[in-house]
Amino acid sequence: MISIDAYLEKNVHVLPQTGQLRAMHTIVRNRDTSREDFVFYSERIIRLLVEAGLDLLPFTPLDVTTSVGATYHGLAFAGNLVGVPIIRAGESMEAGLRALVRGVRIGKVLIQRDKTTKQPKLYYANLPRDIASRHVLLLDPMLATGGTANAAIQVLVDRGVPEENIVFITFITVPEGIEAVCSRFPRVRIVTSAIEERLNDDAYMLPGVGDFGDRFFGTE
Ligand code: URA
Repeated sequence: MISIDAYLEKNVHVLPQTGQLRAMHTIVRNRDTSREDFVFYSERIIRLLVEAGLDLLPFTPLDVTTSVGATYHGLAFAGNLVGVPIIRAGESMEAGLRALVRGVRIGKVLIQRDKTTKQPKLYYANLPRDIASRHVLLLDPMLATGGTANAAIQVLVDRGVPEENIVFITFITVPEGIEAVCSRFPRVRIVTSAIEERLNDDAYMLPGVGDFGDRFFGTE
């Protein structure tokens, strides 16, 4: 079995723990924070996450002529991108992606735990037909046990997306979630803003933020 440290080095990009980020996390994690502040500061963090995810995509060299006639040896963004939020919590990250990537295509998947088997089950998927030739930013703010994430990644792989073309963007995660995803899909990369200590018996992350979807969408 590969150690979590190897996954952290190879597969996981954690945002730099700046004072700004820690202060925003402090607001989001506080259970007394209003819904408006929760949404405002999570959206700020989501933008940083999406920028970091975009930076993992390939760039192509591009020379341009500047206004003074000199050459700037630059880069062109990767094309062929699709964002795939996992319904419902992942939809909290869609606006952040749309704000940063003009005209980005958006697919959707809905995965829920089957009440009888307790296994994650795919209920709905609507993805671009040419997804196999695209880079995919898979969006879900909570990577906890990894069950939903793995089911969603499997949907993409079954549609022909190479594992290495998938970047999973998640607000927070835990070692258990990283292990679950990276052991099954070792070429998928994960971008996150924090790695929590552990899961509790109800599969909530500690210290965590509670139920992200409920707090973001106001259904507590
Ligand atoms: N989903 C959440 O919303 N929060 C957790 O801590 C774990 C899963």
